[in-house]
Amino acid sequence: MDLLPNDNFPRIAACTPEKIKVEPGKIYSWCTCGLSEKQPFCNGLHNKIEGAPYKSMKVQFDKEEEVWLCRCKHTKTPPFCDGTHKTLKSV
Ligand code: FES
Repeated sequence: MDLLPNDNFPRIAACTPEKIKVEPGKIYSWCTCGLSEKQPFCNGLHNKIEGAPYKSMKVQFDKEEEVWLCRCKHTKTPPFCDGTHKTLKSV
C-alpha cells in the first residue's frame, strides 16, 4: 500500500457539519484525519497516512438524539461541530 505523506492533515472533508440521529449504546467511529469517504465516520483510510498519526475516535451515546458531527476535522470539541468550520477556507 502506498503511504501518503503526513502533511496537511487533518484534511477538511467538508466545511459543514452533518446532523446524525444516533442510537443509544451503538459505538460510532468518528473520522479524525478527514480522508474517509464515509464522512463523518471512519473507513480506515487513516492507515494510509505515513507514520500512522491518526485513528478513529470512538463515541457512544446514552440516548437516541440528533447530533451535529464535525466534518472539517478542526473542531475543538470532537466529534461535535463547534463552529470552527466557519473560520476555514472551503475545499
Ligand atoms: S464542521 Fe468542523 S467545526 Fe463545524
